[in-house]
Formats: sequence, structure tokens, C-alpha cells
Amino acid sequence: MDMGLQDKVVVITGGSEGIGFAAARAFIAEGAYTAICGRRKNVLAHAVAELGPRAFGVSCDMTKEDDVHDFARRVFDTFGRIDVWVNNVGATIARKGTWYTGEEIDRTYAVNFKSVVMGSQAAVPYLSRQGGVIVNVASLAARCATSGRATLYGAFKAGVVNFTNTFAGEVASKHIRVVSILPGFTLTPLVRATIAPADLEKQSRTCLLRRAASTEEIAGPIVFLASSQASYMTAASLEISGGRSVTLNPGYSYGE
Ligand SMILES: NC(=O)c1ccc[n+]([C@@H]2O[C@H](COP(=O)([O-])OP(=O)(O)OC[C@H]3O[C@@H](n4cnc5c(N)ncnc54)[C@H](OP(=O)(O)O)[C@@H]3O)[C@@H](O)[C@H]2O)c1
Repeated sequence: MDMGLQDKVVVITGGSEGIGFAAARAFIAEGAYTAICGRRKNVLAHAVAELGPRAFGVSCDMTKEDDVHDFARRVFDTFGRIDVWVNNVGATIARKGTWYTGEEIDRTYAVNFKSVVMGSQAAVPYLSRQGGVIVNVASLAARCATSGRATLYGAFKAGVVNFTNTFAGEVASKHIRVVSILPGFTLTPLVRATIAPADLEKQSRTCLLRRAASTEEIAGPIVFLASSQASYMTAASLEISGGRSVTLNPGYSYGE
């Protein structure tokens, strides 16, 4: 199936690790060039080396407006075009105390919501030259109440879904589609390193498929949404959760 991505230029914010890195690899497999970013220079350099000659990396902080515009400009100066912009940066920031401090709220907002708005706005002048796609990485948490100490994560991800739909209307006349994905629990290197194996196993089994997603299983739908195969999709949200949202009972499963 032709995805129409050959020699297209794809920006993936925070593509030096995790879901973003897997997406970069998947776009390159479709013949695209990819530009990734991250704050840690060593991790970024390692990722670019692993992705090969079609990858380009810029060390920047997507919560800082100047960095965001500089990243977009450097990608355009390097490749002469931008066709796809994936707003992938995001993080579950757990509050330390009983309630959030103002600083924790600001940080959660900046990385999960502000980065998406700034990235989208920075991308439009380039995407609108020939038309393009913005893919926003939200989370299943946008649809559900979240537990633990990162309860604001879902609230800002819900904002990303709403922003996706509103922004899609604002840029449709420029031939830009805007879509979002809602991944469920995904086994990134960070998740593997920070969640105890017993908790990881427990959390992995709370969906119909009874396992967590691999990063490649999230990357595939990102590539599809950015491709010409999804040309009639805009203001759409795609859940990729192994059926998690339909299970009110976490222990629920057919076959047991
Ligand atoms: N993993 C899951 O289970 C899951 C589930 C649902 C949704 N998601 C969403 O999927 C997206 C990717 O998550 P992930 O699990 O793949 O994350 P991850 O493994 O922590 O990777 C995050 C990437 O973003 C970069 N990054 C983080 N903050 C940044 C900033 N301010 N500026 C520039 N780069 C930044 C990181 O590099 P540096 O640290 O070097 O900056 C890294 O390359 C996020 O939006 C997340 O909310 C994840």
C-alpha cells in the first residue's frame, strides 16, 4: 500500500526516545526524512546515529517558544520543506505532596499542552506551502479519570484532543489535516526502567488484549494518520489502547 510518504519531511518532537523514536524509524521505513528533538544531547545524538542518514536532530526544549520556532526553521533550512509535524512531547509529572504546587501545574501544562499548541502554530507556515498533517499524541487518559499522583496529565491531554479539533477547523482551508491519537499503556524504555515488574504486569493486563503496546504498535497508526491513506481524516481521534476504554472492570477478559 502506497502511503505517499516517500521523500516527505516529518518532524517528530521528542523523537529521541520512546514512541517518538519508533515513529521516526517507521517514517524512515516509508522513505521519509525525519527531524527529531530532545533536551539531552547525548540521547539525541545516539538516536540520530541509529536512525541513519535520513534523520536530523536538534537539541531543544519544546516548552520554550524560541526553541520551538528555531527547531522548525532549522528543519526547513535543512530540507526545504515540512510535510508532517508530530507533537509527541509529553510526560506524566507526579505531584510530590498531597496537592499540586503551582510550579508542578505549570510544568505539567507546559510539556503536555503548551508544547502542542506552540508546535502546531510554528508548523503551519511551513505545512501550508504544499499542505500537510499535524498528528498530536494525546493519551487514553484524556478520556478517563487518572489515578495516582499525576491526575492533571489527563486533563491537559483532554485539552490536546479538544485543541486538535478546533485547530483542524482553523487550518483546513490551508490544506492541513489535524488529528490526535490516544495511546494506552505503552512499553517504552523509560516505562520499563521506572515501573516495578509486578506493577508493569498488573497494568499491562487491564485491557481486552491483556498486554501493553510496543512502541511500534503506536508508531504504525501515527504513520497511517500522516499518510495519504488517511486523506479524509481530520479533527479525528484514534484510540490505540488494546480496548482499555471499554473495560470498566480492570479484571475483565473474554477467555478466562
Ligand atoms: N508510554 C506510554 O504508556 C504513553 C501512553 C499514552 C500516551 N503517551 C504519550 O506519548 C508521548 C511520548 O511518550 P513516551 O512514553 O514515548 O515518552 P518518553 O519515553 O519519556 O520519551 C519522551 C521523548 O520526548 C523528549 N522530551 C521530553 N520533554 C521534552 C521537551 N520539553 N522538549 C523536547 N523534548 C522533550 C525526551 O527527550 P529528553 O528527555 O532528552 O528531552 C524523549 O525523547 C507523550 O506525549 C506521552 O504523554 C505515552
